Amino acid sequence: MKKEFAVRPEAITEQKCRDYGNFSWHDFVTAIPTPLFVVTGWKSNGKANACMQSWAAMAGGAPDNYVCILSKVSKSGHMYKSLKETGVCVLNFPSGDIIDCCWKTIENNQFDADEITSSGLTVESAVAVDAPRIVECFLNIECEMLWEHELYDGSRDMTVALKTVHICMDDDRYDQNKLGRFGKAGYQFFSHCPTDPETGKEDSVELISFECI
Ligand SMILES: Cc1cc2nc3c(=O)[nH]c(=O)nc-3n(C[C@H](O)[C@H](O)[C@H](O)COP(=O)(O)O)c2cc1C
Repeated sequence: MKKEFAVRPEAITEQKCRDYGNFSWHDFVTAIPTPLFVVTGWKSNGKANACMQSWAAMAGGAPDNYVCILSKVSKSGHMYKSLKETGVCVLNFPSGDIIDCCWKTIENNQFDADEITSSGLTVESAVAVDAPRIVECFLNIECEMLWEHELYDGSRDMTVALKTVHICMDDDRYDQNKLGRFGKAGYQFFSHCPTDPETGKEDSVELISFECI
């Protein structure tokens, strides 16, 4: 039976929304998976920055216009600062086997750290923009910043649009009969704390990889 949700269910408290890092109850009820990748750029001290990002969507608008919308970028994070300073970044897509290293970038988020190498990953220079790429990621999308807007008036987060200027991709991914782009060895998706709106029970599922049908 379908249920209607016009207001926040009591089982999902305002406190939970804040504690989980500034979210809405709609996030937890819908639990819609979004693609998981790592945004890399140079910090002002020349060290590599890495930021796990999942609230995002891609949109191709013309033969040479492929735009990535980072839906939610924290104004207080290094990534936003680096983007404002350099105007460029790289979106690095990990397969399931290197997710643990990507997760470590959050622990290694100090300004003085090279967040890529200290997390067990390897830095290489991007080709078309002045930013670091992660070698182990099967797809690197090099981007220039197009525009930004507050997520809503007074939000702590920005929505940022990036134009793709260069793509680097592992050729074993072109063919799903080799490594492919989908399944555990391909794109990873994140669902933030799926919650039963009636009981408040949280599902343990967070990382999702889709198989082809
Ligand atoms: C799976 C996952 C997805 C995330 N997605 C986002 C996101 O979309 N936007 C965001 O601002 N932070 C996101 N974060 C949190 C940042 O990765 C984290 O706060 C990071 O340390 C910030 O790095 P920075 O200071 O280099 O910007 C995510 C974290 C995880 C674990």
